[in-house]
Amino acid sequence: MSAVEPDLKSMTTERSSSETVVDAVDLKRVYEVRRGLFRAPAKLQAVGGVSFKLARGRTLAVVGESGCGKSTLARMVSLIERPTSGRLTLIGVDAVDPPPDRKRELRQAVQLVFQNPFGSLNPRKKIAAVLEDPLAINTTLSKADRAAKARDMLARVGLRPEHANRYPHMFSGGQRQRIAIARALMLEPRLLVADEPVSALDVSIQAQVLNLLADLQAELGLAYLFISHDLGVVRHIAHDVLVMYLGHAVEQGPKARIFSRPLHPYTQALLASTPGLATARIVLQGELPSPLDPPAGCVFSTRCGHATERCHIERPLLRALDERMVACHYAEKFIDGPVAVQIARSPMAF
Ligand SMILES: Nc1ncnc2c1ncn2[C@@H]1O[C@H](COP(=O)(O)OP(=O)(O)OP(=O)(O)O)[C@@H](O)[C@H]1O
Ligand SMILES: [Mg+2]
Repeated sequence: MSAVEPDLKSMTTERSSSETVVDAVDLKRVYEVRRGLFRAPAKLQAVGGVSFKLARGRTLAVVGESGCGKSTLARMVSLIERPTSGRLTLIGVDAVDPPPDRKRELRQAVQLVFQNPFGSLNPRKKIAAVLEDPLAINTTLSKADRAAKARDMLARVGLRPEHANRYPHMFSGGQRQRIAIARALMLEPRLLVADEPVSALDVSIQAQVLNLLADLQAELGLAYLFISHDLGVVRHIAHDVLVMYLGHAVEQGPKARIFSRPLHPYTQALLASTPGLATARIVLQGELPSPLDPPAGCVFSTRCGHATERCHIERPLLRALDERMVACHYAEKFIDGPVAVQIARSPMAF
């Protein structure tokens, strides 16, 4: 059992255990990376022990810079990739080693929406087939019932019945993302894992798709695991936020707490770089360390303007503080008063 599990349990936003859609405990994913013919493969820890709970009707946003492990976490939760270790329970079923008779139910319960809807829609299939095929494969519905359900779903996502007879290239990017959402919902999932679903869209279209996702959630009680590098987007859609850095959760909890008073210097830096959300000017210096050679102590220590000797030696555990979890030895100093303006020192200074 993870050291942080009891605290996460007490902080959960669910109303009863039957409403928990995802229960992830200490999920890890390690890749073996080849480094040439004569060298042993290196181990790259893409996700280094992430725990969270996600309840019906709630959205957990996972944020962080490129390469921090967001998509790897999304692939584990959507059953595409097996965790190297940790526990994952979806709709009350062990999703790492599911009982054979629950596998199909699990696969239907979680559906994915990707950043690039064009890449995930077969260009040779009309939208009717795109929407009806999952039903043909997984249900015993008649052709007429499948077509009726597809028409109903098109209306739900804001498209017209005649769109069923068109091909994916005949739609705009925003419409294609609506189709991808419609397809994901055909099997009535409980959880939607959305990996940067609006990142490729114009800002005005982003808002429309985010509104659609919010409406569908209110109507259907869906849980969303929403992956994004854009805190401006996360502000609109999330209930809870999980901030990742180099494969680790550095801060997680209710959005309102984290956005109004970020306690981890990395969260502060992310917010400071987001137009409209900046509480202070913080310039992150230095490169993101290689996940093949992460810092010994705090993963953020090489870029943190507040780091001390202790931070370079001792990795801070996630701990409960001010209604969220945070992994920083000095988080207390950010609870009161404005976040100090800090210019991070270059990693070369250490
Ligand atoms: N199949 C794989 N084999 C080896 N390394 C991988 C594999 N998939 C991901 N990685 C590595 O794991 C780390 C996390 O990758 P991941 O794609 O999860 O990041 P991300 O946060 O989604 O980034 P982005 O914002 O760019 O999409 C990266 O260092 C990446 O290179
Ligand atoms: Mg990604």
